[in-house]
Amino acid sequence: MSYVEVDKLYFSYPDGTPALEDVSLSMETGEMIALIGQNGSGKTTLSKCLNGLLHPSSGSVLVAGHNSKKTVIADMVKRVGYVFQNPDHQLFNATCRDEIAYGPRNIGIPEPEVAERVEEARNVVGLPVPDLEEHPFFLTKGLRQRVAIAAILALRPKVIIVDEPTTGQDARQSVEIMEFLTGLNRELGHTVVIVTHDMDIVARFANRLLVMADRRLIADGSPGEIFGNQEVMKTASIAPPQITRLAAVLGDLGIPQEILSLEEMIGAFEGGRQ
Ligand SMILES: Nc1ncnc2c1ncn2[C@@H]1O[C@H](COP(=O)(O)OP(=O)(O)O)[C@@H](O)[C@H]1O
Ligand SMILES: [Mg+2]
Repeated sequence: MSYVEVDKLYFSYPDGTPALEDVSLSMETGEMIALIGQNGSGKTTLSKCLNGLLHPSSGSVLVAGHNSKKTVIADMVKRVGYVFQNPDHQLFNATCRDEIAYGPRNIGIPEPEVAERVEEARNVVGLPVPDLEEHPFFLTKGLRQRVAIAAILALRPKVIIVDEPTTGQDARQSVEIMEFLTGLNRELGHTVVIVTHDMDIVARFANRLLVMADRRLIADGSPGEIFGNQEVMKTASIAPPQITRLAAVLGDLGIPQEILSLEEMIGAFEGGRQ
């Protein structure tokens, strides 16, 4: 059995808006996944169903074998963490320390261990020690995002879903965030699910892509498979990464079409010269 198993998940909001239809997927521990698709396609709703913030209208979400509908939220958030798209919707404590301690306290972790977890999470996200005593709103957006991630890490979930961390950041900040999340995946073994619109980031960092369109999961595969599938790309209105577009233009020179990184492009040129 996989760590996360979603079976025929449907979800409608209380006002009747349908947001997910017939979504089935599974996730193993240690995966690096990108969840992509147009605005309104259902990415955030799916993410919230995975950590028990929302319950399926029908179908099921199983995490570590536990059905989300029959599991208290305190046990769900220990397994799947969800970092909100806008950290300001998640942060509400008077200091960063209390913010990061909030989750563990809420699930009944004893105070000495709460302190250990705060220090561990602070260290992982690289938040300077003095900032722990600051009000989150006096920090830069980048640091607030780190606090939001630390608050989730302090619950020590196996799966961490980060909703659009690169939206509104410049290219260098985006790469920094992604290198940090890749470290969580490679060094600490977390399954990381990143929701993003940035296909250059996806091509560079993800091993697996989940593609949403019109409330449905329309594709699930490697970046090479997805970016090579014109029909999926068109249905989801996704433009391929710049490097893949360049490879397509250079096809006449014998460059393979499935190039996903600068390194592969250089390799293809060097291979062609020999
Ligand atoms: N709180 C809500 N109440 C009603 N409808 C919502 C709510 N949140 C999202 N929706 C609708 O659900 C659908 C999926 O939205 P969402 O999961 O936010 O997509 P994405 O994250 O891919 O942009 C959209 O039609 C959206 O308008
Ligand atoms: Mg969203």
